[in-house]
Amino acid sequence: MKKVIAIIGLTAAIAANSQAAAVTVTLACGAVGQELELCKAGADRWAAKTGNSVKIFESPNLTNDRLGLYQQQLAAKSSDIDVYQLDVVWPGLLAQHFVDLKGKVPAAEVNAHFKGIVAANTVNGKLVAMPWFTDAGLLYYRTDLLTKYGYKTAPKTWAEMAVMAKKIQTGEQKTNKSFAGFVWQGKNYEGLTCDALEWVVSFGGGTIVDDKGTVTINNAKAAAALDAAASWVKNISPAGVTTYGEEEARGIFQSGNAAFMRNWPYAWALGQGDDSKVKGKIGVAPLPSGGARNAATLGGWQLGVSTYSKNQAAAISLVRYLAGPDEQKIRAVEGAYNPTIQALYKDSAVLKANPFFGSLLNVFTSAVARPSGPTKSKYNQVSQAFSTAVSDVLNGKSKGAAAVAKLSTDLARIKGRGW
Ligand code: GLC
Repeated sequence: MKKVIAIIGLTAAIAANSQAAAVTVTLACGAVGQELELCKAGADRWAAKTGNSVKIFESPNLTNDRLGLYQQQLAAKSSDIDVYQLDVVWPGLLAQHFVDLKGKVPAAEVNAHFKGIVAANTVNGKLVAMPWFTDAGLLYYRTDLLTKYGYKTAPKTWAEMAVMAKKIQTGEQKTNKSFAGFVWQGKNYEGLTCDALEWVVSFGGGTIVDDKGTVTINNAKAAAALDAAASWVKNISPAGVTTYGEEEARGIFQSGNAAFMRNWPYAWALGQGDDSKVKGKIGVAPLPSGGARNAATLGGWQLGVSTYSKNQAAAISLVRYLAGPDEQKIRAVEGAYNPTIQALYKDSAVLKANPFFGSLLNVFTSAVARPSGPTKSKYNQVSQAFSTAVSDVLNGKSKGAAAVAKLSTDLARIKGRGW
């Protein structure tokens, strides 16, 4: 009898155990381009492998909206989301809410990723998140139209780009009124911070705030960069460009209605998709120089485990799987999401799907970071002040020189409260 009871007890314990082992992890990810689809597919592969399940918490398109939503969840110490997809500029803002992955993810696994990206995810020695994919701004162009209008190569400077865009636009508008020379991210949000940083750095105007935390934006080169961009609006770019995010620009380019586009690598895979009007007609080049250098803003996304998660072990397992080489390879081949694992830049399938990962490798390795490191918890305020100043110039409310002078005062005020 005793034995029977013991066996029943044991069976019950095993059942309880296996129930406890299989958990549901909620992962916040998505949503630009194929992000959501690929995220879901990857999560499903992990679930099938481990016997756990994953619920996807669909994130809004714009990074600012994602941040707002996540900050609400985290401030409430909510355990609803276990794993968050984090923008490369957020670790300094959100570090306190995330599990330190150092020691929890084997060092060899961490060290397979680009050092700089691991550093961006490390705040006061704490590994806040694992790198998932990296981003850098690129110039997309129509190879067929460059040839049609007598150009042999992509433009090297912004001034050259503007001349080419104007010529192509004038020609194409004869039969297509909605054709644009150049589309980019002109809406007042984080994406505009990325685009405008590229212009300013390419003109030699610095990075808004330098590595030591000094505000550097009030200079003639930065002002000239913003004035140049303002001259594109309603000239080579539609008036509506000041409301575009990544997806609006991509929609126009991919439907065959633009000569040039500034966007992230993900636009490549979709532009080469079967339903794309410009499949086989796309070239990718470094963004033009403003006289000082070519500059691409460093973007990218990481995966972090919430300290409020009740399933931390499973959540860490999911992060390790998604950030690992197999998943990064699938995402690179299918979606042109740039790996953060260095070795994958030598992978033939990755390079075949995305030839520019190899030819423009230096664009990715020399991308310019936004000043989230030096401005720490104040980064979002700094970025908003910057994109608002840029937006004022684009909308004709201010000239470059006045805008950077005022911005400098605003940033000094934010710095006065400490960063
Ligand atoms: C991309 C980048 C991200 C950036 C965002 C701006 O998603 O990867 O770092 O903040 O674009 O829109």
